[in-house]
Amino acid sequence: MRRGPAGSCRAAARAPLQLGQRERRRACLARPAPAAAIRAGGGRAASGRSRRMGPVWGALLWGCGAALLCLLLQGAGEQPRGLLLLLPLAALAGALVEIARRPLRLLRLPEDVGYYPARTLRGSRHPGQQLPPVYPNGWFRLLDSEQLRPGDVRHVAALGEHFAVFRGLDGKAYVVDAYCPHLGANLAVGGQVVGRSCIECPFHGWQFNGEDGKCTRIPYAETVPECAKIKVWPSCEVAGIVAVWYHCDGIDPTWQIPELEKVSSQKWVFRGVTEHFVNAHIEEVPENAADTAHLSFLHKPSFLSGADLRCINSKLWSFFKHSWQAEWQPEPKPNTHCSVLNVKHSVTIFGRHFSLLALSVSARQVGPGLVFLTFKHAFLGQGVMVHSITPVEPLQQQVTHRIYYQRHIPAVFPKFLLWAESIQFERDIMVWNNKRFAAKPLLVKEDGPIQKHRRWFSQFYSENSPRLTSHKKTLDW
Ligand code: FES
Ligand SMILES: [Fe+2]
Repeated sequence: MRRGPAGSCRAAARAPLQLGQRERRRACLARPAPAAAIRAGGGRAASGRSRRMGPVWGALLWGCGAALLCLLLQGAGEQPRGLLLLLPLAALAGALVEIARRPLRLLRLPEDVGYYPARTLRGSRHPGQQLPPVYPNGWFRLLDSEQLRPGDVRHVAALGEHFAVFRGLDGKAYVVDAYCPHLGANLAVGGQVVGRSCIECPFHGWQFNGEDGKCTRIPYAETVPECAKIKVWPSCEVAGIVAVWYHCDGIDPTWQIPELEKVSSQKWVFRGVTEHFVNAHIEEVPENAADTAHLSFLHKPSFLSGADLRCINSKLWSFFKHSWQAEWQPEPKPNTHCSVLNVKHSVTIFGRHFSLLALSVSARQVGPGLVFLTFKHAFLGQGVMVHSITPVEPLQQQVTHRIYYQRHIPAVFPKFLLWAESIQFERDIMVWNNKRFAAKPLLVKEDGPIQKHRRWFSQFYSENSPRLTSHKKTLDW
């Protein structure tokens, strides 16, 4: 069998662990750059730093081109002083073009957003009583597709499981249990992709097929026992994410993630991604859709006033307000695992309607872990934001938003949308990170269909769904 590109040490170094990435980011953020750095361009893997150099390289290229032109003209006896003045301008223009063109990447660490005072409150906080199970059944994002090149292996800890996610040389992403059935080594720590769809354990070299989990080779044994198998998790790749199907009873997928035709046909192109961590029960996040009353309070002050709840009502930005009209409802059979929130968003400036930021959004929740938000703007086109939520701990959620937008619309507009949305989302995070789950909330009829949402969401729990039983002993909550 042919060895994949990850068969070299260099390739292994290019395939850091999921946790390694976070540590890498932490190291980056420890430098003088602001903790809430907005990253323009680049992957979230090892290549991130060099790609962040993009605007600088763009500027240098423009500068070198202009310098070369000056030299040529000087050689020809011309006076290039005017051009010399243009040189820094050309370099600046190059940098700006690069910044505007590249996808936005805004990646927050768990402690970056929404704690007050800082992270110290986490230990003493009350999570609430009668919490629903912590891992619902459904499809969940594990990685973004660009984080997994052919031959890459990644370790992902989520949903109380440890996954080894790898991409075979056939280009397909596979998800298997991280722990080898032989003696328990972690396949994602030094494991290598072998051939089209196999992964090799770093400990004794057993090889497993990502299609069916069967062991295909034991380098020192004459025969491979029939029972030598690794667990294969149902997985798929849609809209730039690698997703896994989780069911506490091991039941196969009962529904699929819908294909986004505009994205797969490249009519809508990738314009950016954000990543956040939420310290709350998973159900708190989708419940936000049914809690329509909070929109006109928490999300009314201008996004320009930021995400810190202590400052959002600052007088400075009081001339700018968002207004929302929203309605949430579950979908009928056969899509009972879906629900839709229709939102009309508009902006008032000094009390007058400002149509440039008026948007219609249809947020279709597909199962417990994914939402597709389709945007329509009167003259700035259409796009979709893919929202994913994955429990990485019982009460910690990793949330990503990926935006795809019509190719002909300048990238600045969808990037601006994603950025503005992230500020509003961070306000929610500051609430979630400091609240407790209210099993019996005190509601008024204008609160929105919160209880209806809870009944709808309960379909994703089964009798054996894991519960949080001893959080005080086991969690840094
Ligand atoms: S532990 Fe994996 S091959 Fe031995
Ligand atoms: Fe919200």
